[in-house]
Amino acid sequence: MKLLVTGGAGFIGSAVVRLAVARGHHVVNLDALTYAACLDNVAEAAESPRYAFEHADIRDRAALDRILDAHAPDAVLHLAAESHVDRSIDGPGTFVETNVTGTYTLLEAARAYWTKAGRPGDFRFHHVSTDEVFGSLPHDPDVKFTEDTPYDPRSPYSATKAASDHLVRAWHETYGLPVLLTNCSNNYGPYHFPEKLIPVTILNALAGRPLPVYGDGSNVRDWLYVEDHADALLRVLEQGRVGRSYNIGGENERSNLELVRTLCGILDRLRPRPESPYADLVTFVTDRPGHDARYAIDPTRIREELGWRPSVTVEEGLERTVRWYLDNEAWWRALQDRDGVGRRLGTG
Ligand SMILES: NC(=O)c1ccc[n+]([C@@H]2O[C@H](COP(=O)([O-])OP(=O)(O)OC[C@H]3O[C@@H](n4cnc5c(N)ncnc54)[C@H](O)[C@@H]3O)[C@@H](O)[C@H]2O)c1
Repeated sequence: MKLLVTGGAGFIGSAVVRLAVARGHHVVNLDALTYAACLDNVAEAAESPRYAFEHADIRDRAALDRILDAHAPDAVLHLAAESHVDRSIDGPGTFVETNVTGTYTLLEAARAYWTKAGRPGDFRFHHVSTDEVFGSLPHDPDVKFTEDTPYDPRSPYSATKAASDHLVRAWHETYGLPVLLTNCSNNYGPYHFPEKLIPVTILNALAGRPLPVYGDGSNVRDWLYVEDHADALLRVLEQGRVGRSYNIGGENERSNLELVRTLCGILDRLRPRPESPYADLVTFVTDRPGHDARYAIDPTRIREELGWRPSVTVEEGLERTVRWYLDNEAWWRALQDRDGVGRRLGTG
């Protein structure tokens, strides 16, 4: 298959690009190269003759038309987005522009391309979204997000992702565009940009700096190893039912405090700190405004319909991730100078 992947220089998009190229697909990586992008993430894939890069913005209709015509993809896998909740609190405008207007512009370009090609039934527009569109769950293990959970976004980030999901569904119902949607839980793993909780914890620990935990650390997230997410996306793309959405999750719920303590334990083994255990660096800081209490995915649909399940346990995935950061200092050092990285953002 020839895939047009948007946001392929970001964290999850680059995992998709690496996996798709390794599996023999042709990949066109379209990315605007914002602060969150790093082309080193796809250095390995970029050596393949099946890889091409297009520096473009999803809000730029003329560029999208040119790229679609030039490469003639069989599918669009849409991951380009502004993705950091804290940044969305400080500057929601960019999130509206990229996540809503950008997705609209991409949908219109894809629709024109698909219409010109005679509306092929096997074309796919796969929109990658988040479980955050469903809002916040109580701390009750019996309650999880299903594909039928009503949308209830509570941050500027999740509100713009929810809006983009609605646009994608509308383009299917109204124009017949063959779409797929996925809503995934929190990802972690190699190449995670150093402003998100897991890399912040690892890198602050290595520098002997405080490990910030928002509020009392009781907020629960459902963690999925990024390579498992990439695998799930390709499975949905190849086998998912058109017009349908699939929830993707790791069934690995951890409170933020538990997660940070687990990372400290792994670092204590792999890179012991002479003074004291890393957990002594944990520091509780002012909570994020509107911080959702719990996210948890019920992945029954993707498991039963498509036979997909994660391959990496959270213990194994976190250990792999810590080892990756220990082994790839040049990668994260280069990103630490970027705007806003290392500073507390989104306090409202
Ligand atoms: N990170 C998670 O845990 C998570 C979980 C579920 C879903 N998602 C979704 O997956 C997608 C990818 O997330 P991520 O964590 O890899 O994000 P990221 O911030 O690491 O990467 C986003 C990429 O999109 C590019 N981009 C941003 N604006 C663009 C624009 N206007 N035009 C073209 N490219 C642009 C950036 O340059 C970057 O390479 C997003 O849609 C996000 O909502 C993320």
